[in-house]
Amino acid sequence: MTRMLVTGGAGFIGSNFVHYTVKHKPDYDITVIDKLTYAGNTANLQPVADKITFVEGDICNAELMDKLVAETDIVVHFAAESHNDNSLRNPWPFVETNVIGTYTILEAIRKHGKRLHHISTDEVFGDLELDDPNRFTEDTPYNPSSPYSSTKASSDMLVRAWIRSFGIKATISNCSNNYGPYQHIEKFIPRQITNILSDIKPKLYGTGEQVRDWIHVDDHNSAVHLILEKGELGETYIIGADNDHVNNKMVIELICELMGKGKDWYEHVNDRPGHDMRYAMDSSKLRRELGWQPQYTDNQTGMRDGLMQTIEWYREHEDWWKAQKEAVEAAYAKQGQ
Ligand code: NAD
Ligand code: DAU
Repeated sequence: MTRMLVTGGAGFIGSNFVHYTVKHKPDYDITVIDKLTYAGNTANLQPVADKITFVEGDICNAELMDKLVAETDIVVHFAAESHNDNSLRNPWPFVETNVIGTYTILEAIRKHGKRLHHISTDEVFGDLELDDPNRFTEDTPYNPSSPYSSTKASSDMLVRAWIRSFGIKATISNCSNNYGPYQHIEKFIPRQITNILSDIKPKLYGTGEQVRDWIHVDDHNSAVHLILEKGELGETYIIGADNDHVNNKMVIELICELMGKGKDWYEHVNDRPGHDMRYAMDSSKLRRELGWQPQYTDNQTGMRDGLMQTIEWYREHEDWWKAQKEAVEAAYAKQGQ
């Protein structure tokens, strides 16, 4: 068995990664470390609870991370403060977890000579104009816009420096916007699905012409596993499912349609300050060198099947999200969103 430490494994992508690993890669002995912030939830791991070890703790705790890294073979680092809107309200937890937390993990990795895979985002590259034909590649210069993306960019820079200066065994992936089960309802897609389920109109920021290169969370996680198995140490891999023609307005209209509402049963609300316009990922290196292919693709928006599955999941798991709904909407309402 290979021992694997998953940081942030009680959050959205991390918990889906643990589910995916238990189902498809039974040779891993998994330990999850998670601080259980507002975004972490042990219920996300309940279906696999008897197959993993769970440790409640902070990745900024150097003593704890030293111990956990010493006891593992591989660290897959998901833990982060992840929501842009929250980083505009209070940036400090983002600096603490994303920068100091990653530094703490890197020092333990360096000391114990273990393998690290660092999970990052397309937002480190900044944004593109709507008519810019370019996509982000592994060589695109960093140009983050928000407190969130600047702290993720900082953490990537630390990983790159530790690879070059100390020769640690690490890889990095930068993925686009994920959707799927277990995503916190503060985020765009689950917020709109749970709005409709609560008889509240979906909320579109500004004009909704912004483009996110949406990918189903299982496709992100299959790519991470491929990088763990076949990726070259020291390398960065872009992960994206070629959905960079789909804007927010199209997504909200598709959700309304799939949930049996009129296509325009939504309202425009205040835009996000500094709102990135367009992300677009060129994942050809991952596809060419490691043979990766996303599974959730269709010829309309590339999202119809994945969205239907996600809508069904929120419909069937009202007990998972209902208690938070009022507070999440109240926080947005204060900002006219
Ligand atoms: P999330 O907010 O749903 O989950 C983050 C998890 O990290 C939570 O369980 C939280 O409790 C935990 N955590 C936070 N601070 C911690 C700390 N100090 N110590 C230990 N645990 C801590 O986030 P997500 O959407 O699942 O994102 C996971 C990772 O993927 C992040 O690194 C994010 O930057 C990256 N990413 C996210 C997306 C996306 O669309 N959501 C896309 C690309 C990359
Ligand atoms: O691109 C990858 C990033 O995707 C990750 O690094 C982040 O962790 C993740 O949160 C996500 O960031 P975004 O800011 O793009 O995601 P969010 O779900 O907050 O918003 C997606 C788009 O939808 C964005 O253009 C803002 C818009 N939006 C969002 C909300 C919450 C709305 O129009 N209405 C909303 O209610």
